[in-house]
Amino acid sequence: MATVLALNGSPRRGGNTEVLLREVAEGVRQAGGEIEIIGLSSLTMSPCIACGGCTKTGKCVINDDMQGLYDKVQAAKQIIIASPIYFYALSAQTKIFIDRLQAMWSRKQLLRAAKKWHPDPFNKGYLVSVAATRGPRIFEGAVLCARYAYDALGLEYGGEFLARGFDGRGEVGKDDKKLRQAVEFGINIVSRQTSA
Ligand SMILES: Cc1cc2nc3c(=O)[nH]c(=O)nc-3n(C[C@H](O)[C@H](O)[C@H](O)COP(=O)(O)O)c2cc1C
Repeated sequence: MATVLALNGSPRRGGNTEVLLREVAEGVRQAGGEIEIIGLSSLTMSPCIACGGCTKTGKCVINDDMQGLYDKVQAAKQIIIASPIYFYALSAQTKIFIDRLQAMWSRKQLLRAAKKWHPDPFNKGYLVSVAATRGPRIFEGAVLCARYAYDALGLEYGGEFLARGFDGRGEVGKDDKKLRQAVEFGINIVSRQTSA
């Protein structure tokens, strides 16, 4: 059974990211997978303070809601980072989550040094993102950041589902084609894993 963890970095309830993630989740379930969606904006998470604590222990010293996410991130077979585009980048909520993954990057380095790092090649990370405009470069920053976040975790980048031209709250919900594509994306996440 594929276990997918999805992090929603949009602060807008009923927003386009949430609508798309709901459809992706529908696809995951249709394909026999399990998915948990976590809204990052409902959590209390401080930004990384670059204290260097995690370089010694592989653990983050900041005691907030991110502590509950480390185990989930580690246990997930597939991860989806979902975020609206804010100023050509991921939302601040998403970026705080990603910066706090530095502790998992440190953990990876420590395990590697001890020759105890055994990544699962079938685990993958994905990006779901939505923007109001349609510029060809609108998702470049988000894709680069997500790719590197997954690299830090030792996950292969599985690809992205992007939606251009949606601004009003939940507006993407009126676009049947986009919704169908989001379901397909969810189905593929699971079937790619089970056929691997
Ligand atoms: C602070 C802020 C910055 C934004 N910056 C951009 C941007 O640079 N380019 C763009 O196309 N849309 C931008 N948008 C629009 C959002 O990407 C768009 O409304 C998206 O659909 C929001 O997704 P959501 O409903 O899931 O929150 C911005 C919105 C906000 C609130």
